[in-house]
Amino acid sequence: MEKIIVKGVNQLRGEVNISSAKNSILPIIAATILCPERVVINNAPMLEDVEVICKLLNELNCDVNISSINNKLTIDTKNITSMDPDAQLIRKMRASFLIMGPMISRFGYCKLSLPGGCNIGSRPIDLHLKGFKLLGADIMIGHGFVEVKAKKLIGNTIYLDFPSVGATENIIMASVLAEGTTIIENAAEEPEIWDLAQFLNKMGADIEGAGLGKITIHGVKSLKGISYTPIYDRIEAGTFMIGAAITNGKIKINGVNEEHLRPVIEKLKECGVVFSDYKNNSIIVDGTGEKKPVDIKTLPYPGFPTDMQAQMMSLLSIVDGVSVITETVFENRFMHVAELQRMGANIKIDGRTAIIEGVPKLTGCQVKATDLRAGAAMILSGLIAEGQTEIGDIYHIDRGYVQIEKKFRNLGADIYRIDS
Ligand code: EPU
Repeated sequence: MEKIIVKGVNQLRGEVNISSAKNSILPIIAATILCPERVVINNAPMLEDVEVICKLLNELNCDVNISSINNKLTIDTKNITSMDPDAQLIRKMRASFLIMGPMISRFGYCKLSLPGGCNIGSRPIDLHLKGFKLLGADIMIGHGFVEVKAKKLIGNTIYLDFPSVGATENIIMASVLAEGTTIIENAAEEPEIWDLAQFLNKMGADIEGAGLGKITIHGVKSLKGISYTPIYDRIEAGTFMIGAAITNGKIKINGVNEEHLRPVIEKLKECGVVFSDYKNNSIIVDGTGEKKPVDIKTLPYPGFPTDMQAQMMSLLSIVDGVSVITETVFENRFMHVAELQRMGANIKIDGRTAIIEGVPKLTGCQVKATDLRAGAAMILSGLIAEGQTEIGDIYHIDRGYVQIEKKFRNLGADIYRIDS
């Protein structure tokens, strides 16, 4: 079993290049199912989750080629035969459910294993199914599977009770080839939704308003094969921003869209971090100044992202004073608290709120990556903890960060991977 070892304390210095967004490329890969022509995705991040969705497409009999030399992903879905891929593969990653929308759109049928909950919450799919139903699909649930049939999908107005990212993406993908117009109200506004729509529009879809709360999709007859480069990973960039802040370091991050990171940057500024020289998608992050405690509430975009909550908690655990973090998006996303407490953090949980009283130092010990972002938080805490931090269950980290230890090492961190 692999582990990541981090030895504190080193200030981060230098430059880091950000990869393409995991949460963009997963729906984009799923969306290739909509078009029986060859699609090329440039700058594909070579992540565990990308490998899983590519395997899933292979299962459906798609031709998927990953070139690790130029990180180019070539996908040809014209020969899809299977309509009910391996349940184990679906259950490995919740984002697998994103193939449902494109499959029913192109073939009028798909059967998938119900995704179930995960470490961060129960994560139901009721909003995805509500959308499919309103587009005219029949839904059957039983024996752990969901089977969706649709002779024809017809545009409709769909109001989401909550602006779910996955449901918005699945409904967009189900409706691009539907007859007539679909309107999604209270849609998720995350930059990755905008990216998916850009990709689909380049293929010939007619989507307006993606990235805003109301999305209008005019159905088109067919889509064509294209080449596309996804946006940068705002969560990876945010993680390195906190890396600079927590180590009192100063780094340049290449591959940043400042607008996408506005909620994180504003909160870090409030905390005492200085940002400068934003140009050509690069930014300088100066974390050398004194830090102040801050209060955070996670919210759908453009609110503070839940995917940055654990990393922010690592930082605040060593900032003098009391900070409060409220998690409103997922009901169980505080698993990292117990791990931070093992390192000496003073954090109390009250329902969906964590009260963090900054301590002067953390001490290295054995911890676990309880989920992807919690794993990143463990690395960040390890960077400033006294002694050695040994992080287990790092497969979670590999799902969403490209060569994370190499990127931190290039910035001067003492971090490496072992096989124990
Ligand atoms: N929800 C429902 N019903 C639904 C769908 C969602 O109640 O039908 C609830 C969920 O249970 C959750 C909330 O809505 O409490 C938000 O879920 P959402 O559907 O927005 O999230 P997701 O699509 O499952 C994506 C990202 C997550 C990120 C969330 C929120 C991908 C592949 N995953 O998940 O990323 O946390 O949006 O921004 O895009 C990560 O990268 O670490 C990660 C977990």
